[in-house]
Amino acid sequence: MQTQDPRLEIKHMVRRYDGRSVVNDVSLRVMPGQVTCLLGPSGCGKSTTLRMIAGVEMQDSGEIWVDGNLVCDTVFRIPPERRHIGLMFQDFALFPHLSVAQNVAFGLSGDKAAIADRVKELLSRV
Ligand SMILES: Nc1ncnc2c1ncn2[C@@H]1O[C@H](COP(=O)(O)OP(=O)(O)O)[C@@H](O)[C@H]1O
Ligand SMILES: [Mg+2]
Repeated sequence: MQTQDPRLEIKHMVRRYDGRSVVNDVSLRVMPGQVTCLLGPSGCGKSTTLRMIAGVEMQDSGEIWVDGNLVCDTVFRIPPERRHIGLMFQDFALFPHLSVAQNVAFGLSGDKAAIADRVKELLSRV
């Protein structure tokens, strides 16, 4: 029988701010279909861990693996937009000077009509 790769595995993740470890040697394995929660008091490093997994922040050491493939260590790094990992920000991450539709359209490319159609389609889903 073939052994299953974890969907996500992080190994010995460390992140320091100004010399202070906020994520200190965290290892974790999530198998296919498994739902996992990070629990802990405010400031213990949950969001920092999630940001590193998504790739919007770099770890100081440690490795991230997805489906048995290395996604990031301290030398190699797949950028966040190529990781296919969704991250829901805890705080508002919208441009306050733009409308809802303009916020949705911000990352889209193509002609005006195609963007407008896509914005409509996405907003109808939420
Ligand atoms: N960009 C940053 N610069 C300096 N310190 C930070 C930064 N982001 C988070 N921290 C600090 O790192 C620690 C962990 O933060 P965080 O990961 O947001 O915790 P949690 O999500 O568990 O509440 C906290 O002490 C926080 O103040
Ligand atoms: Mg948090």
